[in-house]
Amino acid sequence: MCGIVGYVGRQRAASILLEGLKRLEYRGYDSAGLAVLQPGGLALVKSVGRVAALSKLAAARKLTGTTGICHTRWATHGGVTEANAHPHLSSDGRIVLVHNGVIENYIAIKKFLLTKGYTFTSETDTEVLCNLIAYHYAKETAPAAAQAAGVNPQPSESSRFLTSVRKTLLHVEGTYGIAVLCTECPGEMVAARKGSPLILGVGDQENLIASDVSALVSRTQSVVYLKDGELVHLTAGGFALSTLDLADVSPVIDKVTWDVNDAEMGAHAHFMEKEIFEQPTALENAMRGRFSADGSSANFGGLNLTPADFRTIDRFVFTSCGTGWHACLVAEHLIERFARIPVEVDYASEFRYRNAPLDRDALFFVISQSGETIDTLAALREAKRKGYKCMAICNVVGSTIAREADGGIYQHAGPEIGVASTKAFTSQLLISAMFALYVARMRDLSFAEGIEYVNGLKAVPDLARRVLEQAPHIKEIASRYSKYNDFLFLGRLSLFPIALEGALKLKEISYIHAEGYPAAEMKHGPIALISPECPSVFFVPKGELFNKVISSMQEIKARKGLIIAIAPDCVELPEGLADDVITIPDCHEAALPVLATIPVQLLSYYIACARGCDVDKPRNLAKSVTVE
Ligand code: G6P
Repeated sequence: MCGIVGYVGRQRAASILLEGLKRLEYRGYDSAGLAVLQPGGLALVKSVGRVAALSKLAAARKLTGTTGICHTRWATHGGVTEANAHPHLSSDGRIVLVHNGVIENYIAIKKFLLTKGYTFTSETDTEVLCNLIAYHYAKETAPAAAQAAGVNPQPSESSRFLTSVRKTLLHVEGTYGIAVLCTECPGEMVAARKGSPLILGVGDQENLIASDVSALVSRTQSVVYLKDGELVHLTAGGFALSTLDLADVSPVIDKVTWDVNDAEMGAHAHFMEKEIFEQPTALENAMRGRFSADGSSANFGGLNLTPADFRTIDRFVFTSCGTGWHACLVAEHLIERFARIPVEVDYASEFRYRNAPLDRDALFFVISQSGETIDTLAALREAKRKGYKCMAICNVVGSTIAREADGGIYQHAGPEIGVASTKAFTSQLLISAMFALYVARMRDLSFAEGIEYVNGLKAVPDLARRVLEQAPHIKEIASRYSKYNDFLFLGRLSLFPIALEGALKLKEISYIHAEGYPAAEMKHGPIALISPECPSVFFVPKGELFNKVISSMQEIKARKGLIIAIAPDCVELPEGLADDVITIPDCHEAALPVLATIPVQLLSYYIACARGCDVDKPRNLAKSVTVE
C-alpha cells in the first residue's frame, strides 16, 4: 500500500522517479506527488488521481534537480486530497518526506509539535513524522553554532540530517518505509524501514530506493533488501547502512533475476490479461526441477526440513489473506485427501489475534504472492513467537515474509502487476498440489499413484493452454452476462475454494456482487437470490458428486436462474440444463483446481472489460496490503 521511489544521482531525477512510480501504481493510486531538490530550491508537485496526472503537471515544470522522491498513495489517514498527498514538507520548509505505513502515536506527537510552533496543512500521520524530523534537525547544533560554542568536531549538515531522522524514528510507533530529503543537504537522502518494504537499488553513480524492485530494474539489478530497523544514507557515489541504534550494517547485495521487460504489458490490453495468458509458463516454472528422480514425488530445496522432521508433524496450519487464503483451502483439501494429515486454515488477520490453541507438532505455512502483506507477516511472527516453525510460499524473492520464514517455496511466477491475482494464484495451487504429493508419498500414497500424480501435474501447463484457447468463447459469454449485478459461484470439495475465488475475482474488478458457496449449501440461503437476474456459475465435477451437483443445478433451473457450467470434457450434462458451458480438459484430481480457475479468471476479466472497468487498478484496492 502506497509506493515510494527515491533517486540520488547525476541524471535528472523527475523522469526516473515517475517511470519508477508508474510501476508501483498497483500499490495505490488515489493521488501522487514528487519532490525534487533543484538548484534554486525545492520543487514540490502533487496531484489527486493517477501517476499520469502527476506526470503532466511535472512536465510543465522545469525539473532539473538530480535528487528527488515520489509517492503514489492509498489513503489511510485523511481523504484523497492534494493536501494529503505526499511528499509532505515540514512547516519550516527544510524536510520533505514520503511514507508508506501508519504512524500510530501521531496524535500525541502532533500535540507536542503544535506547542513548538510547527503547523500542519494535512490530516496525515506522515506530516507529523516530517515535522518531528524538522524539530530534531533544528535542535541538533548547526555547524556555525557549534563552531561558535567551540564544539569539536563540528557536526556536518549531513550528520545533523541523519541524526534527526534517527532520533525521530526512535520516538514513533507504527510502521514505515520512508525516504527523506533535507533542503540543506542537496545530493543526499535518508531512507528507513520498519514493517513496510524498502529496497535499495545500487547503481553506477546513482542510488535509488523503492518499495518494490519493479521500480528499480530499469536502472539497476543490484539491490539490497533493507531489514526492519535499518536506515540508509544515500548519495550519488555511495550509501551507508546502519541500524537505528547506530550499528553499521554490511550490505548484502542481491541480483534481481528478471528485467524490466517482464514487468511490461507488451501487446496485452491489461496486465491482468497478460498474466492470465502467462499461466502455462508460470506453472512450468513452479514445477521446474521439483520432481524426484524416480518421478513419483516432489522435491523442495528450500523447506530446510528433513523427511524425518516431516514424520513428526501431525497437523499443518495454513494462513494467508485474500486470494492466497483460497489457495490455503485448496491445500487443505489436497493434503487431507492425499496425505491424510489434518490441516487447519485461518485468515492471517484472525490468526494473529485469536490466540488459538495449537497442536504441539504443527507446522505453519503462510502463502503470500508479495511476501509483504502485513497481516500474513504478523501471523508468521506470531507462529514463530510461539516456537513453531513457519514455511512460506511466496512469489517475490527477498520479500519480508520470504526472509523471515524458516523455509519456503518460491513460486517463480514472475512479476504480477495486475491488482487481481491470477498467475500467482494458480501457481500457489500447483505448489500446494506438489506439496500434498510430497507428504503423501511419505505416508500412504503408493509409488504407482505417485507416478500418476506427477504425470498429472506435468500435463497441467499444456492443459492450461487448451483452456486459454477458449478465451474467445468465454469473451462472448461475458458479453451477454455483463449486464447482471448479482452472481453465485458454486462448487464442491476442491472446487469450493475456486467458487470463492471466482466470486472474489468478479467483485474486485467489475464491482458486481458475487458470492461463492459450496454447491449443496446453496439451498440454505443463497437460493433466495435466484431469479432470471442472478446467474450461477457451477463447477461440475466428474465422479461421485456429479449427480449431486446436477441436482443443485436443476434446483436453480426450476427457479428460472441462468447457469454457466464449467465442466470437464469427459462428462455429459443433461440437455438444456446449462445455458452456457465452458469445458476444461479431463485431468488428475490434484490439477483440477488450477484448470477450473482459468475460465473464471477470463469470465471476470471480460465482464469487467465489457463494463468499462479499470481492470488493473480496481477502485479502493491495492495489490500489496502493508497496513492493517
Ligand atoms: C490484496 C490483493 C489480493 C491478494 C491479497 C494478499 O488484497 O488485492 O489480490 O490476494 O492482497 O496478497 P499477498 O501478496 O499476500 O498474496
